[in-house]
Amino acid sequence: MVIFRGYCELRGLPMRRLLQRMAVAVITFAIGLWSVNHHDVEEVLSSSLSNKTTQKSLNPNYLHQTTEGTAAQQENRTERQKKAGQSQIQLSHTSAMNRYPDEYSAVQTYFRTEMSGGISDSDGTTMKNKKMLSFGAATGEEAITLASMYFSNSTFTVYGVDLDEGSLETAKTSAAAHSPKLDDGKIIFFNGQDTDISKYGPYDAIFANSVLCYHGTPGVNPQSILAKYPFAACEDSLGYLDANLNVGGVLAIVNTNYHMSDTKLHTRYKILAQCKNFVPKVDAESISYEKKKSDGMYDCVWVKQEAGEKRQ
Ligand SMILES: C[S@@+](CC[C@H](N)C(=O)[O-])C[C@H]1O[C@@H](n2cnc3c(N)ncnc32)[C@H](O)[C@@H]1O
Repeated sequence: MVIFRGYCELRGLPMRRLLQRMAVAVITFAIGLWSVNHHDVEEVLSSSLSNKTTQKSLNPNYLHQTTEGTAAQQENRTERQKKAGQSQIQLSHTSAMNRYPDEYSAVQTYFRTEMSGGISDSDGTTMKNKKMLSFGAATGEEAITLASMYFSNSTFTVYGVDLDEGSLETAKTSAAAHSPKLDDGKIIFFNGQDTDISKYGPYDAIFANSVLCYHGTPGVNPQSILAKYPFAACEDSLGYLDANLNVGGVLAIVNTNYHMSDTKLHTRYKILAQCKNFVPKVDAESISYEKKKSDGMYDCVWVKQEAGEKRQ
């Protein structure tokens, strides 16, 4: 302590200021260490980026990989996408019933009209035996909302995947206790850590809401988002979902850190709807949050129009 006080006097710094600086340095170092361990940054940086500004900011030496690529490149990309898809992204497990009504209604309308050619059953849906996935199901509210409010009388099955076992237990209990009672097998929850989503797919709709992002936890800022979940990692998680979605199916995403329109796969998708988002987008060029649109409305539902590259 005496040495420390002497050092402060020598540098002409108040002791409190120096302590503050040291605390900031230690916290920054700890966040950096955690980031590197949390996501294999090197690996995702070598992935196929299609966003020019992101390429520049994240990896100036990156090698562009075409969608065709060699068989080995494709296999490598598939593995990388699977790894991204099965890595913990958003940490919060917060959810709520009917959390994104504009998005759910847009998907419901699509299944009732466009996809069925405009012919409806008494429940408004002619499509039978369709599969939906709530990716990042957390405590199950989204899966229960879809099964009970939007596709209740149809033969749709709703799957809910998460990596957090505690949340999944709550989800199963809530679904079993739901009133009115849900049909047996109407919702199936599973843990994505030990079960690849392809086990139940391919799906006709995939909802990935408030999951392809970092938001709301201490230490989250544009810099930490770019380190832990760079654009390339987001593109890889989207690739994982895309590989498990039928052509003609819908991808529904609210609250991401990046724009789907910047990804390579968006050229195979048609925009169907916009929804309110509250998670800010990150600009990799300026390492800052993008200015939010005043109405908060961003693209959120897309129809898959053609398949991606052939998978091994
Ligand atoms: C904020 S909750 C979103 C819940 C719900 N989708 C909603 O929007 O209300 C995010 C959830 O995504 C889960 N999650 C994060 N990464 C995941 C991954 N790779 N696969 C499946 N779930 C994941 C988290 O464990 C958490 O429960």
